[in-house]
Amino acid sequence: MKIKTKNAKETRAFAQKLAKDFVEKRGPLILALSGDLGTGKTTFTQSFAKALGVKKRILSPTFLIMKRFPLKMSNFQNLYHLDAYRIKAPDLKKLNVEDVFKGQNIVLIEWADRVKEILPKGTIWIRFEHGKGENERQITIN
Ligand SMILES: Nc1ncnc2c1ncn2[C@@H]1O[C@H](COP(=O)(O)OP(=O)(O)OP(=O)(O)O)[C@@H](O)[C@H]1O
Ligand SMILES: [Mg+2]
Repeated sequence: MKIKTKNAKETRAFAQKLAKDFVEKRGPLILALSGDLGTGKTTFTQSFAKALGVKKRILSPTFLIMKRFPLKMSNFQNLYHLDAYRIKAPDLKKLNVEDVFKGQNIVLIEWADRVKEILPKGTIWIRFEHGKGENERQITIN
């Protein structure tokens, strides 16, 4: 699936809609987000998490590798936000991320292409690209 958004608001609306499609599923659910700086990976994650009831504001995790947000849902216990911009797969292994990938969790990973060798089968890839206009983005889901 491929969609174009004209501005950040449309990307947020798309993230919310996608999150609602996933609420019925069972974990683990791994969303690998790829794309250049500023293409909207954090913007997407913020609205996706909000739609699942995360009240805390998700920040662009420049100095953070992994953050957990507990969910009040029967089928998913936590939402994890990871950013692999500064790290490689072995760093994630040290954080026992493989256990996170096995649990009833939703995991969103920015810069996931940097750690793809440790992502489980069934990972959903979402690619973000700049469009022609300044605020246009193309989002592709495999
Ligand atoms: N169509 C759009 N979709 C998403 N964000 C947009 C769009 N148009 C403009 N923006 C703006 O682009 C910026 C995207 O920043 P964001 O932090 O989400 O990107 P990112 O992919 O997480 O970058 P990084 O790789 O640095 O983590 C925001 O300031 C947002 O408001
Ligand atoms: Mg980001």
